[in-house]
Amino acid sequence: MICLAAGLGKRTKASLPKVLLPLCGRTLVVSALAAAAPLQPQRTVVVLSHQKDKVQAAVQESCRGLFARLDFVDQGAPKGTGHAVQAAMQALADFHGDVLITYGDCPLITTATLRELRELRGDAPCSVLTAVPEDPTGLGRILRDDDGRFTGIREHKDCSEEELAIDEINAGFYCFDADALRPALANLKPNNAQGELYLTDAVATLAKKREAPTLEAEDPAEITGVNTLADLTAARARMQERILLEHLDNGVIVVDPTTTWIDHGVTIGADTRILPATVIGTGCVIGRNCEVGPFAHLRAGTVLEDGAEIGNFVEAKKTRMGAGAKAKHLTYLGDATVGARANIGAGTITANYDGVHKHETKIGAGAFIGSGSVIVAPSTVGDEALTGAGAIVTRGSVIGPREVWVGVPARKLKQRELPPTKEKA
Ligand code: UD1
Ligand code: MG
Repeated sequence: MICLAAGLGKRTKASLPKVLLPLCGRTLVVSALAAAAPLQPQRTVVVLSHQKDKVQAAVQESCRGLFARLDFVDQGAPKGTGHAVQAAMQALADFHGDVLITYGDCPLITTATLRELRELRGDAPCSVLTAVPEDPTGLGRILRDDDGRFTGIREHKDCSEEELAIDEINAGFYCFDADALRPALANLKPNNAQGELYLTDAVATLAKKREAPTLEAEDPAEITGVNTLADLTAARARMQERILLEHLDNGVIVVDPTTTWIDHGVTIGADTRILPATVIGTGCVIGRNCEVGPFAHLRAGTVLEDGAEIGNFVEAKKTRMGAGAKAKHLTYLGDATVGARANIGAGTITANYDGVHKHETKIGAGAFIGSGSVIVAPSTVGDEALTGAGAIVTRGSVIGPREVWVGVPARKLKQRELPPTKEKA
């Protein structure tokens, strides 16, 4: 598989390389790569140029373990899609078989479409993905003979008036037979309006020799490239819809999909209710029968065990909430471990950052943290211990099991008296 990611992305006006723009917790290029990963390509080559070291480092970091073999090639000054694939094929000199081509700025392509495109090739030298978008401006048009057979692709800038009226466009995704692709690439010439080496010319050469099957994408959104920040927000909405549908399919109750932001890589158990205006980042794991929101923010590394509840205006980062533990209002929990059934009162803050380092807070099972408590980390609150409203638990405090601490700075007042636990009949 080859992923083309050498584009400049001038139109985003961002200092970040375009393919590293974020989309639901992944960069654009990693979204494109992740769609192909389930097809288990033996070799994966990413073509880079602009800010190549930065892109390579980011892709390597995010794709760890995803591909059997991941290589990067530097295209140098980009001279067209044909030039990019020539560079990639140098890294694949000893490779035979299917070569899928994807774009690092087309994050919405799906595994199903790529699989279909690969299977469609059969014995043909290549298969081509097409689409019929609402507006084909700027895209290559699909040319067919009188019998409807695919004969080639004409770039928008090279089209005649008649050709511009063609509504079927080239999506830019192909599956080639590596051994057929090599000689076709070798013969490319920059005889076109942009003076580039067009990969599409190689496709036409192959289609002349032997019929090349085409596949029309069911949803043209799948193949839309991100060129501007407006494109990025549109793509984000589409991707978000897909992620939420997956959770709904798994039995997660998403009350208001329009205001719920859930990144890739979040696990949520059935019967959990996600209330409106909630943001959940990559790497959160939420059990069954939990409740999150409204207006909650769960960040990377947060784990909610079954039945835990996070309410309005609560932010949790790298925090584990034990089964049935609750933090229902106006709270920040960072680098904290909260035991089962503990209750975190309104306005509680774990002060985890001393300006240089982050520190951990441990709150035991069944503990009761009074409203407005500030627990300066590192500190420990024992099982079934209690802090009074407004307690400032200073750095390094160790509150023993069932101890009651109150005041500023918080000090032990007494042992907590708990109602007798119900005897089992
Ligand atoms: C290309 C197709 C066009 C198709 C369109 C779909 C060619 C000649 N044309 O258009 O038929 O409708 O895609 O989006 O192939 N890239 C490189 N190196 C380069 C040039 C491009 O890596 O030298 C990458 C870009 O970063 C991008 C992708 O290839 O991810 C496509 O390039 P882009 O310039 O957007 O496509 P077009 O050439 O306009
Ligand atoms: Mg171009």
